[in-house]
Amino acid sequence: MKASVGIAIDIAASYLRKGQLVGIPTETVYGLAGNALDVPALSLIFETKNRPTFDPLILHTASLERVIPYILSFPAPLKTLAEKFWPGPLTLLLPKAAGVPDLLTSGLDRVAVRVPNHPLTLSLLQTLEFPLAAPSANPFGYISPTQAQHVYAQLGDKIPYILDGGSCEVGLESTIVGMEGKQVVVYRLGGLEVNQIEKWVGPVQVQAHSSSQPIAPGQLESHYAPRKPFILGHVSDLIAQYTSLGKKVGVLSFSTNYPQLPLENQRILSLSGDLREAAQQLFSSMRQLDESEVDLILAEEVPEMGLGRAINDRLRRASASSQG
Ligand code: TXA
Ligand code: MG
Repeated sequence: MKASVGIAIDIAASYLRKGQLVGIPTETVYGLAGNALDVPALSLIFETKNRPTFDPLILHTASLERVIPYILSFPAPLKTLAEKFWPGPLTLLLPKAAGVPDLLTSGLDRVAVRVPNHPLTLSLLQTLEFPLAAPSANPFGYISPTQAQHVYAQLGDKIPYILDGGSCEVGLESTIVGMEGKQVVVYRLGGLEVNQIEKWVGPVQVQAHSSSQPIAPGQLESHYAPRKPFILGHVSDLIAQYTSLGKKVGVLSFSTNYPQLPLENQRILSLSGDLREAAQQLFSSMRQLDESEVDLILAEEVPEMGLGRAINDRLRRASASSQG
């Protein structure tokens, strides 16, 4: 079986109603979706992604109102964020209602919920009688997909249908936010900037550090990783060092062209130095270099501000596996 790729919401809905999985577009990254209330469908998600079941899934709905049946309460600051930023690249951790399967939350007492901002997926969610569980549609630990083609390449022989919504506009996963006591906490940096959140709820605590016992595996030190060695640092020095060793290097740069290398081995995230564009391009550029002829990928950090914080977070995690 190879997946069909198309824009038919009715076909996607009928597979999902039968307990099967469908690739869905969102503004952040593509998701691997299944019925969030159906335990066999959830098991199939974990199996298809080769994902450990201690890594819980996000429940997606068409609107804030549709989240209510799945939570016990909605702390005021988080509700404010939902009202301001949904649909959008924000996931909230809220107290879970009894009807939500424990497999979805890995036994935790909070459920992650999000209203994604993509017209096809919003229509799909409106049509369905149930919410969708959707992790990023990549094998566990690999780079998240930002085009239908990326999903097809990696999971196309495991699922029947991929809804093609074009290239993801944001290109980074959602920002995950919850509360500890009265403190608003960011658990994963993502497509919604921390300063946007702070405008509405005041100073937040960012706990998106790496940890060996993460509560969000986006916090695992090594994640979002290409298969080729991925080395983060001062790119011109690294180019000199590795080419002198006879290596064929690829470069992922923020806005600089490195004339000492052929253009085809470089991906420049944004020639104009625009962080939004860099975020959009990040994962597909990493993938292209990973699939190219180069022996290793050299990359540099972007300015540590706005979306740059989340971009650097992904770059550091991508490089972590290459350092042992
Ligand atoms: O942008 C996104 O969030 C994308 C699109 C498809 O919506 N989804 C996504 O899902 O990135 P995933 O499964 O790749 O990452 C979800 C993260 C995981 O790191 C997971 O551990 C965390 O959310 N998470 C989910 N439920 C949680 C919970 N109950 N408590 C703590 N963390 C949770
Ligand atoms: Mg993921």
